[in-house]
Amino acid sequence: MAWNPETYNKFKSERFAPFYDLLDLVKVKPGLQVIDLGCGTGELTRKLADKLPDSQVFGIDSSSEMLIEYEAYEKTHLSFAQRSIEAQMEISQQWDLVFSNAAIQWVNNHHELIPTIVSKVRSGGQLVIQLPAQHHNISNQMLNELAAEEPFRSALNGWTRTSPVLDIEDYAQLLFEGRCRTMTVFEKIYPLVLQDANALFDWVSGTAMIPYIEKLEGDLRENFTSEYKNRLAARFTKCPVFYPFKRIILEASI
Ligand SMILES: C[S@@+](CC[C@H](N)C(=O)[O-])C[C@H]1O[C@@H](n2cnc3c(N)ncnc32)[C@H](O)[C@@H]1O
Repeated sequence: MAWNPETYNKFKSERFAPFYDLLDLVKVKPGLQVIDLGCGTGELTRKLADKLPDSQVFGIDSSSEMLIEYEAYEKTHLSFAQRSIEAQMEISQQWDLVFSNAAIQWVNNHHELIPTIVSKVRSGGQLVIQLPAQHHNISNQMLNELAAEEPFRSALNGWTRTSPVLDIEDYAQLLFEGRCRTMTVFEKIYPLVLQDANALFDWVSGTAMIPYIEKLEGDLRENFTSEYKNRLAARFTKCPVFYPFKRIILEASI
């Protein structure tokens, strides 16, 4: 997908907040082998590596655009590779810590993905994952509604993005059915306070809008973007715009 680190980084403090909650759940032990799935630019992987000074940390991400400045974050025992989570899951290697912040929502079929991730955690190890709870996410629903209308519907061949994100009870069940016997699973609202609806548009354009935009070309892309922006402005009329962004946090030890 056409990720853009500049757009993504416009809301650093808002995007970093759940990462720090995840970091607090990491059990610090010496000499861990750690993987960060969907590491983005590498900036947060570096913070993870700084918390685990004697450990080997490896970040993977499928986007060459997001990884463009990864060398700025590399250090001894911290490396990166351009690789998809799906491809990583095909590799038999296990890790002491599987970490992922705001990335696995881009991988389909969590009924398969979660057990596969669990299988990559060594006995005595831990997984720590954050993903958005998108079931009631209005800005995502508005994207789908627009994509289902003409002329976009035909241009997209009827495609709209279906979120693979499950209810937290399902994640807890999947972790239990894996080998996880201790777990911390919760949802948390991260309040987004944005200057106005245009700022909300900027927020969405850094993530959820990307798959629609990359499937549309020329005027259709422009029209989709401007119509979505107009609809957000009509829906979110109060300033600042308050958006209760709900996220799921999963921590489990094996
Ligand atoms: C919202 S960003 C989060 C990045 C980073 N973890 C952070 O917290 O800043 C989502 C990241 O997931 C990556 N991504 C999306 N689908 C992926 C996949 N199938 N395999 C690997 N990375 C993927 C994107 O390239 C992007 O960098």
